[in-house]
Amino acid sequence: MLNIAIDGPAGAGKSTIAKMVAKDLNIIYVDTGSMYRAVALYLLRSGVDIHDEAAVSAACTGADITIAYENGSQQVYCNGENVTPFLREEETGKAASVTSAVPAVRAHLLQLQKNLAAENDCVMDGRDIGSVVLPGAKVKVYLTASSAERARRRFEELKAAGEAPDFDRIKEDIEKRDYQDMHREISPLIRAEDAVLIDSTDMTIPEVAARIEELCND
Ligand code: DC
Repeated sequence: MLNIAIDGPAGAGKSTIAKMVAKDLNIIYVDTGSMYRAVALYLLRSGVDIHDEAAVSAACTGADITIAYENGSQQVYCNGENVTPFLREEETGKAASVTSAVPAVRAHLLQLQKNLAAENDCVMDGRDIGSVVLPGAKVKVYLTASSAERARRRFEELKAAGEAPDFDRIKEDIEKRDYQDMHREISPLIRAEDAVLIDSTDMTIPEVAARIEELCND
């Protein structure tokens, strides 16, 4: 199987790039962040205190997460409900950053991710794909960009969606999430030793995708 692992901080462009690579190579895109978001949504909806690790550990296995593809786009189901439309909300992302640090949550999703990659040619993005989920992936990329550039991209995205975003708050949130993702004990965001570093701060989306596709041919 062709497995491509892309890790990196929030807002580096992982999902945009991964989607483009998946389309170009005609393979599936597995968005693991959405799985963590789906578990977080389940916990929020269940009224679980997301800061109570024991409660999160006990409750998370109640979220039966599965994925399916509709017109090539990943849909995440939680206990049979398609929860995809709710996953990008700011609240869900913040909660996911907290609950994804809980070992039981990670263990709950790890096998699903490994199985998808064992059965499909895929490009998978997340925080620990090259280091933990797919250590044997043919291509491993660590994709990053400066926090100011990542905040700018998010700012433009929200503005285009008709919102009135606050740049400084967005940048602060991004830096806080980076810190949480990089400093947790289990599966922190790190660059795997054999991952190729790509800094997208001054690169276009097609340039980054082309670079990754080149790596597949090496
Ligand atoms: O990439 P994202 O913003 O959708 O991810 C949501 C949260 O899930 C983020 O705080 C980090 C976490 N996550 C993780 O811990 N491991 C992954 N493989 C993917 C995401």
